[in-house]
Amino acid sequence: MTGWRIWTAIKEDADALAELEALAFGGRSWGADNVKESFVASRVTVLFGGESKSKPQGFAVWRDLGDEAELLTIGVAAAARRKGLGAALLAAVLDAAHGVGANRFFLEVGADNAAARALYARAGFSQVGVRKAYYADGADADVLARDL
Ligand SMILES: CC(C)(COP(=O)(O)OP(=O)(O)OC[C@H]1O[C@@H](n2cnc3c(N)ncnc32)[C@H](O)[C@@H]1OP(=O)(O)O)[C@@H](O)C(=O)NCCC(=O)NCCS
Repeated sequence: MTGWRIWTAIKEDADALAELEALAFGGRSWGADNVKESFVASRVTVLFGGESKSKPQGFAVWRDLGDEAELLTIGVAAAARRKGLGAALLAAVLDAAHGVGANRFFLEVGADNAAARALYARAGFSQVGVRKAYYADGADADVLARDL
C-alpha cells in the first residue's frame, strides 16, 4: 500500500507503543517499561504509522545525537508487513534526522534478521561494524550506517 500516514506519537501513546513493540518483537521485546522510556528519554522521537491515526500498525524510535542520529527500534504488526510501512517509517525517520541537521545515521541489526537487513539495504545502509553480544540472548548485532 502507498499513502501510509506517519505521525509523531505522544506519551499518552505509551501503552499502544508497548503493545505494538511486544507483538513485533516477540521474544526480543525490550519489555513494556523500557519501551515506554522512549517518551521521556532525551532527544528521542517516536513515530507511528498506519492507515489512520486511530490504529497505529507500526512504529519507529530514533535519537538525535547532533551531527549523527540513530534508530533505536522499528517494527510493523505482522498483518501489515510487506506493504511498505516499514520503508515509509524509515524514510520519515531519515527525513526528520536530516531536518534537524544530522549528517550520518546509524542502526543495529541482527545477523539473522533477513527482513530488516533487506529493508536497510534498500534504504542505502551498509555495514560499518559489529557489536558483540548486543542482544539479550547473546547474539551479535551488525552496525549499519549511511550518510544523510
Ligand atoms: C523489518 C520490518 C520492520 C519491515 O517492515 P515492513 O513494513 O514489512 O517492510 P516493507 O514492506 O516496507 O518492506 C520494504 C522492503 O524491505 C524488504 N523486506 C521487508 N520484509 C522482508 C522480508 N520478510 N523478506 C525479505 N525482504 C523483506 C523488501 O526489500 C521490501 O520491499 P518489497 O516488499 O518491495 O520487496 C518488519 O519485518 C518487522 O517489524 N520485523 C520485526 C521487528 C524487527 O525485526 N525490526 C527491526 C529490528 S533491527
